[in-house]
Amino acid sequence: MSSQATYPDLRGKVALVTGAGAGIGKAAALALGQAGCNVAVAEINEASGLQTTSEINNAGGKALFVLTDVSKSASIKALVEKVVAEYGKLDIAVNNAALSPDYGTIADLNEDTWERLIGVNLSGVAFSLKWELRQMQAQNTGGTIINMASATSIKAEKNLPAYSTAKHGVVGLTRVAALENGEHKIRVNALAPGAVSTELTINTLATMGFSEEEYSPRVGLFGRFARPAEIAQSVLWLASDASAYMTGSVMTVDSGLTIV
Ligand SMILES: NC(=O)c1ccc[n+]([C@@H]2O[C@H](COP(=O)([O-])OP(=O)(O)OC[C@H]3O[C@@H](n4cnc5c(N)ncnc54)[C@H](O)[C@@H]3O)[C@@H](O)[C@H]2O)c1
Repeated sequence: MSSQATYPDLRGKVALVTGAGAGIGKAAALALGQAGCNVAVAEINEASGLQTTSEINNAGGKALFVLTDVSKSASIKALVEKVVAEYGKLDIAVNNAALSPDYGTIADLNEDTWERLIGVNLSGVAFSLKWELRQMQAQNTGGTIINMASATSIKAEKNLPAYSTAKHGVVGLTRVAALENGEHKIRVNALAPGAVSTELTINTLATMGFSEEEYSPRVGLFGRFARPAEIAQSVLWLASDASAYMTGSVMTVDSGLTIV
């Protein structure tokens, strides 16, 4: 099952990752640190954000923690300002922060849950794009942005109304941002993981009444959950010049989940 981790040479690049205190965001931040980037760890949970930051620094990388709430546009503005004050520029952004899915039908929609999830999982990506794109446009040196979508961006799923709708919206935002920024040489792509072994997955399965082990055989074509580090490898690829001709795309990394 294991794949060898590889790291492109991203020395001299500045990256920010939202939701970098846990799961996929943490794995992406660690991988970007390994690849030589200066990394801004943007997280609403101070303890976990500081933990990721010290893991990158202890591994010989360079990281900075910025307490961030992606659902607040002013918080993202302050994040980008802090990154530029500290590292002088922004080259790579990974818009990853999200809340765990709601669970229930549209007929039973809870309005408060809807507002909260859309606020973080969709508006959070829009606000992040706004301030990241302004900075990258002003620099005039291009850039690459990776929005964390999901298999539920592509395939409708019952009982995840706000989550699945927000993830469809992330693909829409990705395409619009790519269209508007080709002339600035800023690439914007979405990454759509299948089921990944993280806190978010454990929470979702618990609401459905399953453990991770019980659910594994139903996951994609390999009967297992992805490891966050496997998804981080795709983040690195989208962040690097290996994907230089790619923008406005949705890249699935889902062991075939969306083709069955
Ligand atoms: N786990 C999966 O199976 C899976 C599958 C497809 C897509 N995704 C997506 O990948 C991304 C990461 O998921 P994960 O499984 O690692 O989740 P996770 O719950 O393990 O981590 C999410 C992180 O985001 C942070 N966060 C939450 N709200 C925030 C806010 N308002 N501002 C800043 N940070 C905030 C949390 O504190 C947490 O550290 C999400 O966009 C998720 O929708 C996950």
